[in-house]
Amino acid sequence: MASPFLRESVARLSPYVPGLQRSGVLKLNTNENPYPPPATVAAALAAFDAEALRLYPEPSCDTLREAFAAHFGCAAENVFVGNGSDEILRLAVQAFTPAAHPAAGAFHPTYSLYPVLARAADVPWKQWELADDGSYGWPEEMPGLGETGVFFLANPNAPTGTLAAPDAVARLAEKVPGVLLVDEAYIDFAGPGATALPLALSRKNVIVTRTLSKAGAMAGARLGVAVGDPELIDGFLRLKDSYNVNRLTQVLALAELEGWAEVRATAGKIATTRDETAAALAAKGWEVTPSRANFLWVKPPAGRTAKGVYDALAAKDILVRHFPDDPQTRDHLRISIGKSEDMERLLAALP
Ligand SMILES: Cc1ncc(COP(=O)(O)O)c(C=O)c1O
Repeated sequence: MASPFLRESVARLSPYVPGLQRSGVLKLNTNENPYPPPATVAAALAAFDAEALRLYPEPSCDTLREAFAAHFGCAAENVFVGNGSDEILRLAVQAFTPAAHPAAGAFHPTYSLYPVLARAADVPWKQWELADDGSYGWPEEMPGLGETGVFFLANPNAPTGTLAAPDAVARLAEKVPGVLLVDEAYIDFAGPGATALPLALSRKNVIVTRTLSKAGAMAGARLGVAVGDPELIDGFLRLKDSYNVNRLTQVLALAELEGWAEVRATAGKIATTRDETAAALAAKGWEVTPSRANFLWVKPPAGRTAKGVYDALAAKDILVRHFPDDPQTRDHLRISIGKSEDMERLLAALP
């Protein structure tokens, strides 16, 4: 029973359910990177002086903002650095829901954290169904869009892995009355030309978010970035915790940018393993949604249920992700891409 001292919206809230974190198993359930971050990160960690932890970190990560600005080809004023992109998404709900457009929204299915963040902030939630055909097709008519102050577009989408083309994203930016936040957590696996960064740097109402958790292989360090118009970035700066990104993570993120060529090479390797795994599953009769991310959205062949396959794999110490509570997702599994030997083990273990 919820405490009577809780705010009603919090007492009602069904919290976000993260994928299981368990050691000693093959983890293909939270889209982590099976390879380590670049050697520059290990070197920076080895050189880190514990004494430096006495001091607070840079409050707004200005050194990192400059480094990301150089990385993305923009100004530091276009960049905000957060404690994982999840922090940025939470701040976006708080910042971009003015009285004229008080709601937050997204297509469905998508990253299931978005509605939780809205409900946690007592912000009305709107959603519109995606086409159920493995494309990333969304409806022309979007009733209620006028009330939406912030619209989350995961691109590539999670959990489906599908990618919307830049011109489709640009059309959506025209249509959304508030801020279009393009969550590019998986963009490094999507190939060239897929990003909405040019849109974020040319329009007043588009933000692109990135994370070092996926291709960057630093999910444990928690580092996310937003790029957009300086006035939107200012909204984040007003709301963030005083020292939102810890000192060690700031150092490691800087080192990761120095080793970015290695990150790119690893992402390419994972994309190759993804395509090989997709072909192998399709050959076994699975329905495989074309993916541009580091995971596959798949439906077992007739006669097997997603839950049954999930359980059979778990019994062999292989964790994948199943979202059983939503009719749009319960017949599928989301399988993160590991090393090629991990995927061979998965394929051999399938019931
Ligand atoms: C679409 C999407 N956005 C953001 C995140 C979270 O990223 P971070 O680790 O930077 O908080 C995830 C994590 O799974 C995700 O799937």
